[in-house]
Amino acid sequence: MEKRAFITGITGQDGAYLAKFLLDKGYKVFGLVRRLSSPNFWRLEELGIKNEIECLDGDLTDEYSLNQAVKAAQPNEVYNLAAQSFVGTSWKQAVLTSEVTAIGTIKILNAVRDFAPAAKFYQASSSEMFGNSGGLDIKDENTALHPTSPYAISKLFAHWMAVNYKDSYGLFTCCGILFNHESSLRGIEFVTRKISDGVARIKLGMADKLQLGNLDSKRDWGFAGDYVEAMWAMLQQDKPDNYIVSTGKTHSVEDFCKEAFKVAGITDWKQYITQDPRYMRPSELHVLQGSSNKAKNILGWTPKVDFEGLVKMMVEADLRRLSKK
Ligand code: NAP
Ligand code: GDD
Repeated sequence: MEKRAFITGITGQDGAYLAKFLLDKGYKVFGLVRRLSSPNFWRLEELGIKNEIECLDGDLTDEYSLNQAVKAAQPNEVYNLAAQSFVGTSWKQAVLTSEVTAIGTIKILNAVRDFAPAAKFYQASSSEMFGNSGGLDIKDENTALHPTSPYAISKLFAHWMAVNYKDSYGLFTCCGILFNHESSLRGIEFVTRKISDGVARIKLGMADKLQLGNLDSKRDWGFAGDYVEAMWAMLQQDKPDNYIVSTGKTHSVEDFCKEAFKVAGITDWKQYITQDPRYMRPSELHVLQGSSNKAKNILGWTPKVDFEGLVKMMVEADLRRLSKK
């Protein structure tokens, strides 16, 4: 029988890749879509799947709409990807971030418990939850969690609620602790896409500088298209569990810039970078590097795209987009 998946956050980067991946597997895909003044379907349109999705109206802050959407979808699998996901904004909008990212997760868990209790549930947990715990050590599923932003605290709350609903109500909940993953569909405010777009603009003579914040912070960057496969694999297991998804390698923001300018064929790249205090954070997470050995051993998951491949893919996509304009 055709499997049914319900995705919150389907209009975001991961939601779009996951929807495509599930459609290709023959799933019927339902997506929660909130009301905006202008629709935000560009990612689903770029992947050519907009018309294959059944959109259900709703918002993570509105429990009634979630109940109705879960009832309508009658899903076998629920992927809770919706969030206020931008760390920088989470200091300026800490209450909103908590309402969507933390409390919204209880609302969708309640909807699943009450209207689709047999559904398997994926929670989008984050490597941000580690904060600076363990310093430069490679993080694994046993590393202590010490969040450093309102976003990370909200994700930590949501993570433990998902675990608690497994223990309390027997729901099949899995948390994917995903390290940073990027693509040409990444939101423009995140540093990788800001760089790929900025470098493409400089290359095409449309800009003459790129303003960034902390160039020293390091992230374990992978490709979003690879990471959604791990989300799905978690829900195909007999037992629910939590897994780290990462590449195991870490690079600085400066490394990302250097590689992006290299792809664009610009050698004197340092002259284009300026640092702007507006992009510094009140509290910084300095280094992230994760071990996905558990995902490799149990799910058989490994990343396919490496750092250089990711940067190339992103810069080339932005060069193509901007050249068309
Ligand atoms: P994203 O591109 O920012 O997408 C976020 C999605 O959430 C969008 O579809 C957005 O809808 C939706 N959303 C926001 N507020 C909502 C609300 N009140 N009600 C319903 N939907 C709402 O994020 P992403 O990169 O795809 O990440 C997916 C999930 O994984 C997020 O939970 C993120 O925190 C988490 N995560 C991401 C990474 C990463 O590196 N990408 C790593 C670890 C964890 P609109 O289109 O209407 O704004
Ligand atoms: N956004 C941004 N803009 N970040 C900058 C800039 C800039 O101009 N300059 C330097 N940075 C640094 C940030 O201070 C941070 O250390 C790093 O670049 C990455 O920032 P983001 O790309 O905004 O991502 P993030 O690591 O804060 O959060 C992302 O990854 C998390 C997983 O670890 C988001 O996708 C979260 O939703 C996700 O949970």
